Amino acid sequence: MIGGGYCGHRFATRLQELGTRVITTRRNPEAGSNALAFNSDDGTIPSAEALAGTTHVLVTAPPDREGQDPCLKALESQLRRLELQWVGYLSTTGVYGDRKGLWVNEDDEAPLESLLRRSAARRRCEEAWLSSGWPVQIFRLPGIYGPGRNPMGSLRRGESRLVHKQGQVFCRIHVDDIVGAITHCLALLAERRPALLNVVDAWPAPSSDVISYAAHLLGCSLPEFQPFEAIAGELSPMALSFWRDNRRVSNQRLTQGLGYGLKYPSFREGLRACLNEEQAQLG
Ligand SMILES: NC(=O)c1ccc[n+]([C@@H]2O[C@H](COP(=O)([O-])OP(=O)(O)OC[C@H]3O[C@@H](n4cnc5c(N)ncnc54)[C@H](OP(=O)(O)O)[C@@H]3O)[C@@H](O)[C@H]2O)c1
Repeated sequence: MIGGGYCGHRFATRLQELGTRVITTRRNPEAGSNALAFNSDDGTIPSAEALAGTTHVLVTAPPDREGQDPCLKALESQLRRLELQWVGYLSTTGVYGDRKGLWVNEDDEAPLESLLRRSAARRRCEEAWLSSGWPVQIFRLPGIYGPGRNPMGSLRRGESRLVHKQGQVFCRIHVDDIVGAITHCLALLAERRPALLNVVDAWPAPSSDVISYAAHLLGCSLPEFQPFEAIAGELSPMALSFWRDNRRVSNQRLTQGLGYGLKYPSFREGLRACLNEEQAQLG
């Protein structure tokens, strides 16, 4: 597992439960952790001995500041020494650009020049992996949520904003459906694994709907309603860029083509599960 962050850690934990041997990397592994040190920015790479015997690699690191893929940039020669049977790459649905709220699927390619800079970098990283010669699967992900990373956290901290932009929706996915979809693919015959796969839930929705439902679950009051147009001027360029693209991303290839059943088809089931898990952890 290249990167043991939010998705990487959840996926590694699941694979270990299934009895698979997993290696993860972190840029600065904590003392006592089993993770290997890998940081493309300072050239720290794991030894060939530490990686020996690896057959499957999931890349969870995003493009670096120059837009390059950290793994291909710094670890490719190490990986070439292995007999890899599968490479999974976690990408984003940002590569579809703005679709004015319409549906998109894996066959709908956006012109590179129409994309946000970070999405264009992502597409180039996808292309680099697809042309690597390894059997690569690209998983295109929308906003990732799950236990410890969801709108209930910001509501509890009083940091939530109820911003609404007419007609704007966002797609999202619970982290356990990322894990589930990848595990599902790995159980398929290699020739049935698609090179490009959207892993998104079935319910694109305005962020105000999601925050409202999160507040309902917590039984707390909603922050003040703010029309996007009224606050756009005070948003950072980064925050503004998240509101630029409006699309509904189809999961038909995953659910109908490959027969994967989403654990959390919408944010409602997903947020309820997050709350249950967070409460169980608190004891
Ligand atoms: N967050 C979202 O809503 C979202 C949506 C769509 C797609 N994605 C993409 O999906 C992927 C997984 O997301 P995530 O939320 O699990 O990400 P994450 O928690 O930030 O994990 C990314 C991992 O990559 C490692 N990493 C980053 N830069 C690196 C570098 N230069 N060299 C070596 N390792 C590096 C990080 O190391 P450390 O552990 O040391 O930090 C971390 O383990 C990412 O590519 C992300 O951009 C995210």
